[in-house]
Amino acid sequence: MSNENPVPLSATDDMLALNGDCPDHLYSTIFTLNDKPGILLEALKPFASLSISMSHIESRLGRDHAGYDFYVEFICETEELLSQLTKKLEDIATSVSLMTEGGRGNKVPWFPRSIRDLDKFSNRVLSMGAELSSDHPGFTDSVYRARRAQFADIAINYKHGEPIPRVEYTDSEINTWNEIFTKLSTLFPTHACKEFNRNFPLLVDNCGYRVGNIPQLADVSNFLKECSGFTLRPVAGLLSSRDFLAGLAFRVFHSTQYIRHYSKPMYTPEPDVCHELIGHAPLFADQKFAEFSQEIGLASLGVSDEYVKRLAAMYWFTIEFGLCKQDGELRAYGAGLLSSFGELQYCLTDKPEILPLEPEVTGNKEYPITEFQPTYFVAEDFESAKKKVRKYAESIPRSFTSRYNPYTQCIEILSRKDQIVDLSLSIQNDMSILQEALSKLHN
Ligand SMILES: [Fe+2]
Repeated sequence: MSNENPVPLSATDDMLALNGDCPDHLYSTIFTLNDKPGILLEALKPFASLSISMSHIESRLGRDHAGYDFYVEFICETEELLSQLTKKLEDIATSVSLMTEGGRGNKVPWFPRSIRDLDKFSNRVLSMGAELSSDHPGFTDSVYRARRAQFADIAINYKHGEPIPRVEYTDSEINTWNEIFTKLSTLFPTHACKEFNRNFPLLVDNCGYRVGNIPQLADVSNFLKECSGFTLRPVAGLLSSRDFLAGLAFRVFHSTQYIRHYSKPMYTPEPDVCHELIGHAPLFADQKFAEFSQEIGLASLGVSDEYVKRLAAMYWFTIEFGLCKQDGELRAYGAGLLSSFGELQYCLTDKPEILPLEPEVTGNKEYPITEFQPTYFVAEDFESAKKKVRKYAESIPRSFTSRYNPYTQCIEILSRKDQIVDLSLSIQNDMSILQEALSKLHN
């Protein structure tokens, strides 16, 4: 591969889903008990009476403040025991949801319910920062490998809510950034979409994007939060597609913090801080793009491996390698394109195949990860792309309906009548605000 053929990979990898590594007798359940004295003992009884080991238990006040939601992870050796436990829980709880990691039967695979749950898989990376493959440009460089280990430590020890540790980049690292930043900047006015070109100067003004400085993840994350609610979270290596997409459901983007090896500044076999901050961050500052990205994440929660793979393809052909049409011209919005000097030029030539974005087609399309894409998909705009993903998500087999609550940063499962009534009241309130705004507009 030449230096002019950079391959900025996304942090997804379909072939190595970690969920398959989990023992298939590990389960989790969420159930709701009415508030009364001794409620905790009540919650534990079914597990104790069946001698089922619990590995984790959490409780929180239920939405109606009349009961408590319990989340329990446990190990269950047989289907018979599981069936007995479910029955006992159903006898005492107002609602019970059973989940499993490992994909046994048609039960719902585990997914994070709270933004804090992202801490649970931050260590489940498919490749570690310091463990480079033999064809990696930094493979024989012990100094580079030690540096990668430092970045991996930061990510592995990171917990939700903490400030992202600031890094003092070396002169060599800054030189690498300088070369990439300078070359790519010449292409953006003619090759990037208008949303990117609108936001990029804001990152220059607010987050230290410039020659001579590698922006800090913490600064970019804080800026994005103010723009669209998106935040960055340091990650040590590649996550499984399921885990990576789940982060998007919470408007969290798992971002690397290390930089590629100095010997090949225009090539990287994996995502690095240049790819994340130049390619991804400007678009995550856009509200419509943030909504579209979150939609893909929400669609992935609790679905089968097959549909995670399709949604990962959707992610690939949009957030990584998407094109859009603006003022009659094709423009790039995918981060893999916007951080690649070679492919950003190639994608707008007549060489690749150009198809309209259609989830049913896009989600089934195979793609190479070590060469320029032979096919790109074109979105009309982010709003229409979001609607297409939402429609596609409705067709995915899933036994529950969920929504993201931005105030609690939790995924709510809409399984009870009172929850649906609450949602309806919330929508009615928004509708009255809309009506008021419209009436003032016409006055
Ligand atoms: Fe990426």
